[in-house]
Amino acid sequence: MHEFHYSGQDLYCEQALIKSLVQKYGTPLYVYSQKTLTNHYKKLDEALAPLDHMVCFAMKANSNLSVIRVLANLGSGFDVVSAGELQRVIVAGGDARRCVFAGVGKTEEEIAFALQRGIYSFNVESEPELARINRVAARLKKIAPVAVRVNPNVAAGTHAKITTGTYENKFGIAFEAIEAVYARAARLKHIRLQGLQMHIGSQLTEVNPFEAAIRKVMPLVQKLKARHGLEFFSIGGGLGIVYKSALASGSPAWWKSKAAQKILTPSSYARRLTPLLKPLGLKILIEPGRFIVGNAGILVTRVEYVKRTGRKNFVIVDAAMNDLIRPAFYDAYHEVVPLRKKGGALISSDVVGGICESGDYFCKDRPLPKVGEGDHLALLSSGAYGFVMASNYNSRPLAAEVLVHGKKSDAARKRQEVEKIWEDEKIVSWLK
Ligand code: LLP
Repeated sequence: MHEFHYSGQDLYCEQALIKSLVQKYGTPLYVYSQKTLTNHYKKLDEALAPLDHMVCFAMKANSNLSVIRVLANLGSGFDVVSAGELQRVIVAGGDARRCVFAGVGKTEEEIAFALQRGIYSFNVESEPELARINRVAARLKKIAPVAVRVNPNVAAGTHAKITTGTYENKFGIAFEAIEAVYARAARLKHIRLQGLQMHIGSQLTEVNPFEAAIRKVMPLVQKLKARHGLEFFSIGGGLGIVYKSALASGSPAWWKSKAAQKILTPSSYARRLTPLLKPLGLKILIEPGRFIVGNAGILVTRVEYVKRTGRKNFVIVDAAMNDLIRPAFYDAYHEVVPLRKKGGALISSDVVGGICESGDYFCKDRPLPKVGEGDHLALLSSGAYGFVMASNYNSRPLAAEVLVHGKKSDAARKRQEVEKIWEDEKIVSWLK
């Protein structure tokens, strides 16, 4: 469920008319619903209530300070992948002691920063990283809490670019090698073996792969717990969301429909996994990103031109692949809807940005209402891996972001001024 809905002909976020947000903040504009964020966090947290658990929001999905503040206020922990993300948590008022630090490429500086800030755990991805963390901790006279990431080698059945839990991927340490790695790590003086971690992929729409991975890893967790006194087991993120029928999925009626029965919900996820996890007697961590924020955000864009050429009807909008790269990069589907509903026949359309690349599209051959210059469209389910993956390609300023709370709205990020794009550049000395 989410809080984007039509009332009469107009699209709203909670009780805020999106058209009026556009008038105030301009386009391209990311709009986030605080209520949706809150509901998604709470649903997951409540579903896992039978377990001693911690939800660590994977902030790579959306690291806006206001989004982080909303989640920190709810008691969320965070899964960070850089010192920059950890700094964001701290700036937003979150707690480093509720953060796990993942990623295959942690630098010495990042490790030192995280240690000084009292991170809950490093999710370690290789033995050289383990040795490096031990060395940095020794220098700082600290003991580093770590969990090794096990690669369980199970297929997640998701897009190749976001599958992580097989031996084709760069992530984690092979299942078969883990016990020996823990035995060696136990001899490192500045390491405390705090947990075991895994993450098999993103946008998983069934519980089966999660269950298969947990079943495979469970005996290993038990052994490691007995040998090394582990405190937690992190089962990663990856819960998928509804992209198709995204608008329908905001309504209570849709949730009673047949389509909804097939969706991965926090309760179906927890129902299958808690009986497996509870007997471990460990704290269970999860690292959801997309599930919490994906359907809590949309990208609003203005139609600049409509162009018919060859067989195609192109709707050229003011957002582009630099604002939302998912369709270009993952062939991702985002529902496209008008801010104001229109009658009349649907026209097969390609919605495209203004960047000089054929990959710069949001949808192809999609039946859409007839639109013209000055109309607005919303790209739904853009809250996760939307703004965070934006760039200044083609020297296009970063979009603005707005958070809505009931009738209220406020800029969670102002639109970037164009001069800021080259602010850190200069003409080199010999060219002056
Ligand atoms: N934990 C780890 C170790 C991860 O690598 C990821 C995502 C997550 C948690 C959160 O996964 P989620 O719950 O959001 O599925 N940019 C891509 C997704 C990349 C996911 C990377 N890792 C997209 O737009 O689909």
